[in-house]
Amino acid sequence: MSRILGLVASIAMLASVQAAGFVEQATAAIPRFNSFPELLEQFGHEFMYLSFILLILITYMFGKKHNEVLAKTTMAVMLPLFRANFSRVGDNGAELAIDAPHEYIIYLTGRRHVATVHGLIKMKPRQDLIRTIFTLFSTPVIDTCTLNVTMNPDEYSDGVFAVVPKSSGTKIRNRNYDLTTFTKASNQKSLDESLITLTESNELTEAILPLVSDKLNQAAEWLDYFIVSDQPAAKPESLPKKPHAKRISLSFRLPKATEARRILPLVEALIACLDGLPQDCHVTTVIKNKIVKAREEAAKDIGKKAQAERARELEEKRLREKREAEKNLSPDAQRKLAAKEEKKAQKKRQKKVTTRG
Ligand SMILES: *[C@@H]1O[C@H](CO)[C@@H](O)[C@H](O)[C@H]1NC(C)=O
Ligand SMILES: *[C@@H]1O[C@H](CO)[C@@H](O)[C@H](O)[C@H]1NC(C)=O
Repeated sequence: MSRILGLVASIAMLASVQAAGFVEQATAAIPRFNSFPELLEQFGHEFMYLSFILLILITYMFGKKHNEVLAKTTMAVMLPLFRANFSRVGDNGAELAIDAPHEYIIYLTGRRHVATVHGLIKMKPRQDLIRTIFTLFSTPVIDTCTLNVTMNPDEYSDGVFAVVPKSSGTKIRNRNYDLTTFTKASNQKSLDESLITLTESNELTEAILPLVSDKLNQAAEWLDYFIVSDQPAAKPESLPKKPHAKRISLSFRLPKATEARRILPLVEALIACLDGLPQDCHVTTVIKNKIVKAREEAAKDIGKKAQAERARELEEKRLREKREAEKNLSPDAQRKLAAKEEKKAQKKRQKKVTTRG
């Protein structure tokens, strides 16, 4: 400890003295260290550890603050909309709950047509030096906000519809089971040329797009995806007991805090759907039947997979039980069994030889 204190004092003196330009006097004042390299040589390791710890602490303080400002400013932009449209914003008194220094949670409820809204502001782990260094070498993390609205069931037509950037549309479509299974990409005149729709039917597009196109166009550069869906984003392992929740998902990238307002039109588009879908999104019987048919086809596929999976599990269970039973046999019986299996295997080998010959 005293060595470290001595080191800090020496660095401080050396720095101030050198800054003043009295190098010769300094040599007299601190005879032990008359150059920086010499100091490094004496205190090399301590110096390295100390600066590293200092760097981690400074990164934590500034990174945490940076993320906090970004999250709170973004929330402040959305808050008037949330307050006007939901009777409850946040949980336990906090409108924005901190989950980690780079993750803030949004929760809304208490509105006609809506069950809940779960949101997440997820930013670069700026507070964490080590993780920041790692993200430099892996896929870059981007500051985003995601809002997942769970709508009340049965208030508007089923169907899958999305607006995504052209540049990342294929990737997003491949990542989401509902988009992959039910939608096709299509260009729309009313959309900004950087955007494209993924839709299950034209009639669905005609019902939903007018609600959101202007607003999405206004902030197209920040949009990740806007999805209306009655199907899950991840492929189900088995057939559901009850219908999937109807949801609207919006995800966008965050501008820097001083320009946070630029994302507002995207959130307005989402809010417009809360009443807009129950009002306007009702397709004709023909299209409705088509949508139902597509769900049945998908269910068949999932059912088949689930059946195969069940058969595999049963077979595994049978083998496990057989092994257990063998383990419990007396040594004598085990020997007999082994001999029997060896005979069986031999027969098989012989048969192979004869067929080959
Ligand atoms: C939702 O918020 C918007 C903007 O403040 C407002 O115009 C609209 O009336 C609100 N909707 C409801 C149902 O309160
Ligand atoms: C929103 O929904 C998507 C897809 O279901 C899911 O991957 C994501 O974790 C959800 N985000 C939040 C904040 O609930």
